[in-house]
Amino acid sequence: MQQMATQQRDVLSSKEPPSACTLVIFGANGDLTKRLLIPSLYDLAVADALSNDFSILAIDRVQATGESWARGLRETIESFAKDPTAEFSATELNDTAWNSVVKTADYISGDFTQPELFQNLHGRLGTKNVIFYFAVPAGLFAVIAKNLGDAGLLKEGEGFYRRLIVEKPFGHDLATARQLDVDLLKQADESQIYRIDHFLGKEVVQSIMAMRFANSLFEPIWRREYIDHIEITAAETIGVEKRGKFYEPTGALRDMVPNHLFTLLCMVAMEPPINLSAKAVRDEKTKLLQAIRPLKPADYVRAQYGAGQINGQDVPAYRNEPDVSPESRTETYSAMRLYIDNWRWGGVPFYLRTGKRMKGRSTEVAIFLKRAPYNLFDRSEDMSGLANIIRLRLDPLHDIEMSFDVKKPGTGEILTLVQSVFSYDEFFGKETNVGYEALLYDCMKGDQMLFQSAEAIEAAWAAVEAINRPAETDLPVYAAGSEGPKEADALLAENGHKWLPVTAETIFSKTP
Ligand code: BG6
Repeated sequence: MQQMATQQRDVLSSKEPPSACTLVIFGANGDLTKRLLIPSLYDLAVADALSNDFSILAIDRVQATGESWARGLRETIESFAKDPTAEFSATELNDTAWNSVVKTADYISGDFTQPELFQNLHGRLGTKNVIFYFAVPAGLFAVIAKNLGDAGLLKEGEGFYRRLIVEKPFGHDLATARQLDVDLLKQADESQIYRIDHFLGKEVVQSIMAMRFANSLFEPIWRREYIDHIEITAAETIGVEKRGKFYEPTGALRDMVPNHLFTLLCMVAMEPPINLSAKAVRDEKTKLLQAIRPLKPADYVRAQYGAGQINGQDVPAYRNEPDVSPESRTETYSAMRLYIDNWRWGGVPFYLRTGKRMKGRSTEVAIFLKRAPYNLFDRSEDMSGLANIIRLRLDPLHDIEMSFDVKKPGTGEILTLVQSVFSYDEFFGKETNVGYEALLYDCMKGDQMLFQSAEAIEAAWAAVEAINRPAETDLPVYAAGSEGPKEADALLAENGHKWLPVTAETIFSKTP
């Protein structure tokens, strides 16, 4: 624990505490609250990056009091130490930090769809700074916003703010996203709405901008003249777990692509912003998303996992998971080839893929540079014909790898491929944050840079509109624990390309 607190200081300690704030959590007993929100607030408290006047008002249907809710939370959070899937794993909490998160926690049990609940809130919130966090199923976003608006709770006043944090999924296609924007914007101004994509809370994702725009090493080659193609991967070994009810109507495309994968795409492909203001950065992301050539079915592969093995354990097919139809056509894997129609990227294929139950867990961006103009040397050990690959490994490794050819010692001009690796964890210490810390902190500070704008979300849905349709036939199946469906390999083979293996291992190391 001590070690964890010390290391977190490295990441969070430069942050000045924000001003007083009450966080109203709708869905206070949900998984998101327990696994991510409260642990993140705790991490902020450990780093002294929370106001002394911070308080929580928890709301859920379940009956409880502030005290019993906080007690239950503490037990759950402490039990995470034994749960290998938990993002937070402290065995012993620091009492001072814990108390500063929950000491004044208040709890209301009520129904989010009933206006009475919101009248009750009015008296309690007065003229405080308030963040309303929608940690609830997406179907409730609009009704909660309306109830807040009708009760006058979203009106800001002299010296106090009102903000909304809305979780993904933000709609499930262009029309529903637009409708949700209309519903929210009837109640609040765009400057009050914070749409979360938790990939942007990941430290290494944020650092892509620094890598690109703080160095002159990368940006000059970061364009169509030098880059052959780019792969973006978010592969998971976990299956659908207990989320069948959510996942069945959602699928891999809606769950991961217009949000998380496009977030990575923006970081890698957007133009340099003129400064780091939320507006400048969000404008560049929006422009990039608007430049995506709308995807066609021929550029898209979807598939579903069958039974297989993960880490030597048998795991069931998607269709045999809880709350999943035995005839389901929901995709658990999506891969696509897309193009960005602008001067920097014209003609460069971007390949995006995401899948559950794959062979390895790996979130990464791989930039394949073009080959040298002619072949002077004997290239003996060749991965794909392309020697220079820059890999930004975002999860579970946090590193930047660059591969290049060197001459093998000895006689002859034989080349061998090597790589140079910069590891964030080795250099800065392992990051233990759960990923929502920066997002919550920025919202308390009123900085929307890491949040999604309405325009960007709509541009993202527009790009996938033609492939965001129910499947008309059964989907191809890939075995759990595999590299994904062969159809996805064929998609890249059309352009003479190959996916990198999904593995957390480094793939270039060779013994000379
Ligand atoms: C969530 C998706 O938004 O992101 C999940 O709903 C997915 O299905 C998760 O597993 C992946 O996030 P991370 O941070 O674990 O890579």
